[in-house]
Amino acid sequence: MGLFSKKNNGAPTRETVLAALSTVQDPDLHRDLVSLNMIKDVKVEGGVVSFTVELTTPACPLKAKIEADCREAVGRVEGVEKIDINMTASATARGAAPETEGIPGVKNIFAVSSGKGGVGKSTVAVNLALALAKTGAKVGLMDADPYGPNIPQMVGCSEPPQVANNRVIPPSVNGLKTISVGLIDTGDTPVVWRGPMVHSLIQQFLRDVDWGELDYLVVDMPPGTGDAQLSLSKLVPLAGAVMVTTPQQVSQSDVRRAIQMFRKVEVPVLGVVENMAYFICPDNGKRYNIFGEGGGERLAEEYEVPFLARVPIDQRIASGGDAGQPIVAAEPDCELSQSFMALAGAVAQQISIANAASQPLPVIQ
Ligand SMILES: Nc1ncnc2c1ncn2[C@@H]1O[C@H](COP(=O)(O)OP(=O)(O)O)[C@@H](O)[C@H]1O
Ligand SMILES: [Mg+2]
Repeated sequence: MGLFSKKNNGAPTRETVLAALSTVQDPDLHRDLVSLNMIKDVKVEGGVVSFTVELTTPACPLKAKIEADCREAVGRVEGVEKIDINMTASATARGAAPETEGIPGVKNIFAVSSGKGGVGKSTVAVNLALALAKTGAKVGLMDADPYGPNIPQMVGCSEPPQVANNRVIPPSVNGLKTISVGLIDTGDTPVVWRGPMVHSLIQQFLRDVDWGELDYLVVDMPPGTGDAQLSLSKLVPLAGAVMVTTPQQVSQSDVRRAIQMFRKVEVPVLGVVENMAYFICPDNGKRYNIFGEGGGERLAEEYEVPFLARVPIDQRIASGGDAGQPIVAAEPDCELSQSFMALAGAVAQQISIANAASQPLPVIQ
């Protein structure tokens, strides 16, 4: 009672509202919303209070909780009759990294990686990118795999990029800006790329492509822990790497080497996603753990990184990729798409946390 009581004949004021909101914590950042500068446009008219909450990512999985906590806190202020909350988001970026330069306008670049080919990196990268875009984030997808550039087929894009003023304009499908050597190299002969060429491919995709304003640039990495990973981490500051694994042992020992490699070059490992985690038989609804159980979680525990999500093996995911109709775009509300939405929320959450840790504390206005 006493804490928020006021002199104003029981009517709320900006100050009493802000005092109430400063008791609401961001559960991830462990600080209150007011000192995090997330509260904007507080207006008080009689008993009617309105304000904006600006989240650190459009994909925030805690949006509903934060809104409810704000409503509850302000609801306790004496004299408040009505609360209008406008939930918005502006993705944060990493603090200044003086030694390397990012891409102007692109807030967060992160890699989708694993040690091994065939574990579903590209499938995860495509559906994760689409899931982020579905939350309202501005998203780009860069295919850094010159050996098997299958992103164009997976996203259903065959349109070669336009060039204007020496800048490559990435085509956009389902709201996702995409670039791949598969869009540029139209000949039938496969390109044989050597290390330095991988480097120059990645460099060109980062520097010569007009990505515009992006909240997230998702980079689908080629298999292995070699040149591409090293090049990318040297060329731009990375928000982190998402590691894809199947529950199987062999895939895990591979992803181990990849995690160690990213740590060596000081790229934060955002967490582990377990792909092909289980199979639900469409005939009887029974669950089969084809590749074993819990491998991804154990790996995450061992390296003390978050376990981000579990994606089942499902024919709709495979055929969606083959047909250029990724599941998140084709059936956005199905349970498979929901697992990718959960992954998007978890990845965005980890990036926001890492960004907050990299930045000086905001000045309280
Ligand atoms: N969760 C899944 N369910 C069914 N098929 C999958 C799943 N993830 C990947 N696949 C299939 O496995 C194959 C390899 O996936 P891909 O994403 O190309 O792997 P990577 O990029 O790691 O080499 C593709 O044919 C893809 O459709
Ligand atoms: Mg791939």
